Amino acid sequence: MSLTKPPSKTARIERAADASRPTEAEKAPGLPAKANGQDPTPTALPIFAKVRNYQGANRVRASGLYPYFRTITSAQDTEVVMNGQKVLMLGSNSYLGLTNDPRIKEAAIAAVQKYGTGCAGSRFLNGTLDLHIELEDQLAKLMRKEAALLYSTGFQVNLGVVSAIAGKDDYILADKANHASLVEGSRLSTGKTLRFAHNDMESLRQRLEQLPADSGKLIVVDGVFSMEGDIIKLPEVVRLAKQHNAAVMVDDAHSIGVLGKNGSGTASHFGVEEDVHLIMGTFSKSLASLGGFIAGDATTIDFLKHNSRALVFSASMSPANAAAVLAALRIMVAEPERIAQLWKNTERMKQGLLGLGFQLGASETPILPVYVRDMLKTFQFCRLLQDEGIFVNPVVYPGVPPGEELLRISLMATHTFEQIDRSLEKFKQVGKALGII
Ligand SMILES: Cc1ncc(COP(=O)(O)O)c(C=O)c1O
Repeated sequence: MSLTKPPSKTARIERAADASRPTEAEKAPGLPAKANGQDPTPTALPIFAKVRNYQGANRVRASGLYPYFRTITSAQDTEVVMNGQKVLMLGSNSYLGLTNDPRIKEAAIAAVQKYGTGCAGSRFLNGTLDLHIELEDQLAKLMRKEAALLYSTGFQVNLGVVSAIAGKDDYILADKANHASLVEGSRLSTGKTLRFAHNDMESLRQRLEQLPADSGKLIVVDGVFSMEGDIIKLPEVVRLAKQHNAAVMVDDAHSIGVLGKNGSGTASHFGVEEDVHLIMGTFSKSLASLGGFIAGDATTIDFLKHNSRALVFSASMSPANAAAVLAALRIMVAEPERIAQLWKNTERMKQGLLGLGFQLGASETPILPVYVRDMLKTFQFCRLLQDEGIFVNPVVYPGVPPGEELLRISLMATHTFEQIDRSLEKFKQVGKALGII
């Protein structure tokens, strides 16, 4: 695909329409291809009707612009290798640039040598290592909370914590732009979920006022919103929570390593640690590993240890992952210049993009959403940038509401100004060719 000759929109839509034309099997939705149950097709059974009929991915594939599951054959760094070519990575959540740090890799290797490759069980039973306890202690200190608890992914933290804390007759108040894992945690809970308009404190206030004064209420919010890049108005959330006897839980997946003292997140950024009851974090972004945690008071953490099913019935974090996080935490605290550089890089990219005429919405962090507001153009933009050696992520529904399609850029502390300036040049070329700027 050449940059000067963007793909014809009509041709792509026609091809996509071809691909989405129903096959014979699809013409009878819900019915198996053979009603006698003998059809060997794996998806012939009625339960698979939705699978047979699903065409969403094929429609994008037919356009030649399919941007998902792109294969990388190198470490996740500022440059990665795809199809044998170096590509500048502007779509990674490795904000501190630590995923390929030799010190962290050595720590992970040493943990494998000592503890092996897995724990073969849940924390609750045979899967607790001294490494897990050490990491929990470190995280509790960093978050200025009494205790912390590790889960095997950040997604599991949100599933396991929200569902265990908010029970029947309780209410969950959730920002409309919260991460999918918080949404799923709320769905799993037997409590009732009320959503309020994104970062809109008047909407939150109205919701709270609808509820019985003595009912259990949990306000759950992202600290930094993962697609929009804006920061929750946490001081106001906390003030409303106090007025209405509500607890506050913050998802700091994109705030750790980015905001607050020593990169400790949103509550620290605003100086309201004491008024945020539960702080969630993931290790899959700044902390160069995999897993997640919840930090809070010791009584709540002990309750979760015995009642959070995503913890009790799931194997514990692997030794290598836990050791990697411990090493990453040490570096995050010992090298504050990384966070400073991340912000310098963010500012350079942000000002560059704004100067070119791109719209970045309300972003205040290293997540820079470049609004395209058209699905096909978003995919084209992504593909043309990749052809020019730049990796970014396209975000369409359900990642954002329809009509809010965007390219999500995320900066790393280890990007150089040369890399940023080079990518700005490419954004300019492609943005102009597509008529976005
Ligand atoms: C805001 C937010 N919360 C939670 C998660 C889940 O974290 P993990 O990748 O560790 O499962 C993510 C990751 O995409 C996220 O962006």
